[in-house]
Amino acid sequence: MATDIHRKVSTGPEGAGPDESRAVAVRARGLVRAFGGRRVIDDLELTLEPGEFVALLGRSGCGKSTLLRVLAGLDREIDGEVWVPRRKAVAFQAPRLMPWKKVWRNVLLGLPGRTERAVAERALTEVGLGHRSDAWPRTLSGGEAQRASLARALVREPDLLLLDEPFGALDALTRITAQRLVADVWRQRGCAVLLVTHDVDEALLLADRALVMEGGRIAYETPVALPRPRTPADPAFAALRARLLDRLGVADAGEGAPSEGSADAAKEPAAVGGAKG
Ligand SMILES: Nc1ncnc2c1ncn2[C@@H]1O[C@H](COP(=O)(O)OP(=O)(O)OP(=O)(O)O)[C@@H](O)[C@H]1O
Ligand SMILES: [Mg+2]
Repeated sequence: MATDIHRKVSTGPEGAGPDESRAVAVRARGLVRAFGGRRVIDDLELTLEPGEFVALLGRSGCGKSTLLRVLAGLDREIDGEVWVPRRKAVAFQAPRLMPWKKVWRNVLLGLPGRTERAVAERALTEVGLGHRSDAWPRTLSGGEAQRASLARALVREPDLLLLDEPFGALDALTRITAQRLVADVWRQRGCAVLLVTHDVDEALLLADRALVMEGGRIAYETPVALPRPRTPADPAFAALRARLLDRLGVADAGEGAPSEGSADAAKEPAAVGGAKG
């Protein structure tokens, strides 16, 4: 792990790091990102511990992807301070594979230095896609393409893995498989994960902590102190779900109203992730 070696996202003096007294995976202080004078991120404070799995929820358009792009170093038009690990990787909802490159070449795309095929194949095997290494992206299913995208993130050996609704386009069963895969990868790699999701159940199945973004800030957060593997059938899970849905301004499906929380996942006897360590 190199989580003590940080880079400032914005330009300017690098200084000694986010906090000389202890290592963190992410530190944002007074972060502002405005588009045409409108502050989408407004004085946001955020800290992620090394190895922590954090889910980021919030209404559509509240700034989740904007925050992820800043943390990924893709957007540097910011005010305030952001520190992230040098080794970070991002996977988006759309897998964004280059159609003219075979899967293994896609996995290595943009990787500095090492370009051996074996590196790509190890990551593809890790996500259960070793047998499709030589395939063209257009021949992959949605779930396979998503796994290829995850493999592309993993070859970067990130200390921080940023996931922007990576399972959003997947059907319910494939999504459960993909969630388990991410839980396994996180447990084995020990990297910090920030997962943007609209799915409250997904957040509660996977994360150590759930955040709700609103008004350009982290308006609410709760630890997810549930034993792993987790199941939506657990009453403590249901209580946390109700609290989060309430915070998101959505009535719980259990109260008879339509829910943004994953009704599919709630119906499935899903259990994701073993105990960490
Ligand atoms: N490059 C840009 N130029 C202008 N406005 C932008 C730009 N990028 C994002 N925005 C605006 O910032 C706001 C937040 O966008 P963002 O994509 O971060 O939302 P989000 O929380 O990820 O939403 P969703 O859940 O729908 O993906 C939106 O109003 C969006 O229109
Ligand atoms: Mg988004």
